[in-house]
Amino acid sequence: MTMVPVTYGGSRRPPRGDYSVARQDYTCDQAWDSYTQPQHELYARLFARQLRLVQGRACDEFLRSLANLDMGARIPRFEHVSERLGHATGWQIVAVPGLIPEDAFFRLLSQRRFPVTVWLRTPEEFDYIVEPDLFHDLFGHVPLLFDPVFADYMQAYGEGGLKAQRRNALELLARLYWYTVEFGLIDTALGLRVYGAGILSSPGELERALTDPAPLRIGFDLRRVLRTRYEIDDFQQTYFVIDGFAQLFEQTAQDFAPIYQQLLPLPSFAPGRAEPADRVFGATASNC
Ligand code: PHE
Ligand code: FE
Repeated sequence: MTMVPVTYGGSRRPPRGDYSVARQDYTCDQAWDSYTQPQHELYARLFARQLRLVQGRACDEFLRSLANLDMGARIPRFEHVSERLGHATGWQIVAVPGLIPEDAFFRLLSQRRFPVTVWLRTPEEFDYIVEPDLFHDLFGHVPLLFDPVFADYMQAYGEGGLKAQRRNALELLARLYWYTVEFGLIDTALGLRVYGAGILSSPGELERALTDPAPLRIGFDLRRVLRTRYEIDDFQQTYFVIDGFAQLFEQTAQDFAPIYQQLLPLPSFAPGRAEPADRVFGATASNC
């Protein structure tokens, strides 16, 4: 059976990946030997730039785990990363051709398998990429899978996704992923730090997410997050701030079924607008 390519948000762009090589669960081989020397070098340049930018901006859990990615000399072999990850938290990374259907994505997460795109952006896309590539998936997402609490959260999210699908509540649950796993901020003793992969793998948003006075930074509240829409192709107008991964895990452990029932009929909130009950954080002073 041929796996169908996936596009997002009604996009007309032709899909980037080669879906003809995908298995039933949408995983494929990394085919590490097929990366060219210029691709390894491009990856190394992306890694070096981002490694500099995350200092003083990413949370400690992320910075500590970066060493597990071979420090970016070349594109890592997924098996090597998986071996270390397996020892740390029982997670594995698996290769996929690109974006995969929600169903397949949730199922992999529920099995503690994180899908990483095999293709790398072109040199022209050094600063900006419209869909997740190998660098975003690996650099942005994989380090936190070494943290035991975050690792459990990701698996729970996968199970929650399968359940939300059955309850027609995916639009609500997708906002939780967006505002935590992709664009989450965390309040630490040293000030706000970033843990969201969409920010951590982006050169422009890393500085801006913490220090720009324009975007709203709101204390994490589950119902508020589930009701807040998001922009996919611009810097975020709203970020949500957690106190720690334990808080995130605890607040999402409850059964979402009654929450979906309560929230589905209610209007959503626009990004970038404060509501009276919000706990608003100020921007941090530049720390680099
Ligand atoms: N507890 C959620 C539910 O019952 C599942 C979930 C856990 C969703 C963690 C997201 C994150 O649906
Ligand atoms: Fe991502």
